[in-house]
Amino acid sequence: MTRTTVRIAMNGVTGRMGHHQHLVRSLLALRAQGGLDLGDGTVIWPEPVLVGRSEHKVRALAERHGLEHWSDNLDAVLADDTIAVYFDAQITAARTDAVKKAIAAGKHVYVEKPTATDLAGALELARLADAAGVKHGVVQDKLFLPGLRKLRRLVDGGFFGRILSVRGEFGYWVFEGDWQQAQRPSWNYRTEDGGGIAADMFPHWEYVLHELFGPVRSVQARVTTHIPHRWDESGTPYEATADDAAYGIFELDGGIIAQINSSWAVRVHRDELVEFQVDGTEGSAVAGLRRCRAQHRAGTPKPVWNPDIPDNTAAGSFREQWQEVPDNADFDNAFKVQWELFLRHVVRDEPWRWDLLAGARGVQLAELGLRSSKEGRRLPVPELTR
Ligand SMILES: NC(=O)c1ccc[n+]([C@@H]2O[C@H](COP(=O)([O-])OP(=O)(O)OC[C@H]3O[C@@H](n4cnc5c(N)ncnc54)[C@H](O)[C@@H]3O)[C@@H](O)[C@H]2O)c1
Repeated sequence: MTRTTVRIAMNGVTGRMGHHQHLVRSLLALRAQGGLDLGDGTVIWPEPVLVGRSEHKVRALAERHGLEHWSDNLDAVLADDTIAVYFDAQITAARTDAVKKAIAAGKHVYVEKPTATDLAGALELARLADAAGVKHGVVQDKLFLPGLRKLRRLVDGGFFGRILSVRGEFGYWVFEGDWQQAQRPSWNYRTEDGGGIAADMFPHWEYVLHELFGPVRSVQARVTTHIPHRWDESGTPYEATADDAAYGIFELDGGIIAQINSSWAVRVHRDELVEFQVDGTEGSAVAGLRRCRAQHRAGTPKPVWNPDIPDNTAAGSFREQWQEVPDNADFDNAFKVQWELFLRHVVRDEPWRWDLLAGARGVQLAELGLRSSKEGRRLPVPELTR
């Protein structure tokens, strides 16, 4: 076996995403399995170099995971020629400056979404990375979730016939932080720190819709701040300046209408934290993070409106009349699957389409969604070019 070591500077790795999903569940999991086996006698061995603002936090994290390499000096790390990749999972507002420096230092870059706080910034990163000739990518983890991969299988297999509509429900109650600690960071609720649910979730909806059903051509959204006062990590009250709910209607190529509600002020009466229902002429499906259930045209019940009788028939309740889509595969962690593809792209130049321009499309949709809400009108989504 030949081992190809890829040294990866990981910034923002003390945060929720950086730590759990990218370090532990992706790169450390890859190391635990002996590296990424390319199947031709080569193994890619990721070597994380943890980077953070606080020396003691980043050192403690490195020690906890038995990692030798860490630093609180981003410039010094970027000056190190043995480091090939810069990864960024910092708060969104801190991303652009750091990624620009990494591109200038000739690093390949892989970043969390949203890639920047506005479209101009996101496009600038994409163009700078192209001009520098570095490889670049954005995290689009939802595409690699079991539920959405099964949904994709149905789309690719022609199950739906002509797809008519998509309805998505995302959200859960995020505690205000007074009598129970909030389960999300407080910056998410402050516009000035890059927060807001539209900025957070519309980038996800952009790539999910685009990749499964087609590009988004227009957006009409209504965002609001349902909970205006919250308490931060230290128990200090603050004003929530960012939107905590976004109700969006997206028109896709081919006339498909997608309607997606995103909210941190909703209590879950669903099977999963996000669910998408897709209706087509030949069949329908409901996909979540892990599960996907389908109903074919031939198995569709014929409800008749009569509130005087219960809706249970001999075939069971409406929910019971759906069929579970089988896994037919082993599904690994979605973030890890995308890391593997990115590392193959870096080392072997294998195909990769989730680049910073794709990331900019997500930022564009969030920006247009917010503008649509402010102006109270539907807005076209122009195609972005390199
Ligand atoms: N792909 C996904 O599903 C997903 C989910 C949640 C968050 N995210 C994205 O990941 C990024 C990080 O989100 P998170 O929830 O892990 O946030 P977090 O608050 O838990 O972590 C933020 C990280 O950024 C660092 N940081 C750098 N500059 C900072 C500053 N000025 N103030 C505060 N922290 C600073 C922190 O030290 C920490 O390591 C965001 O861009 C977010 O949009 C992606």
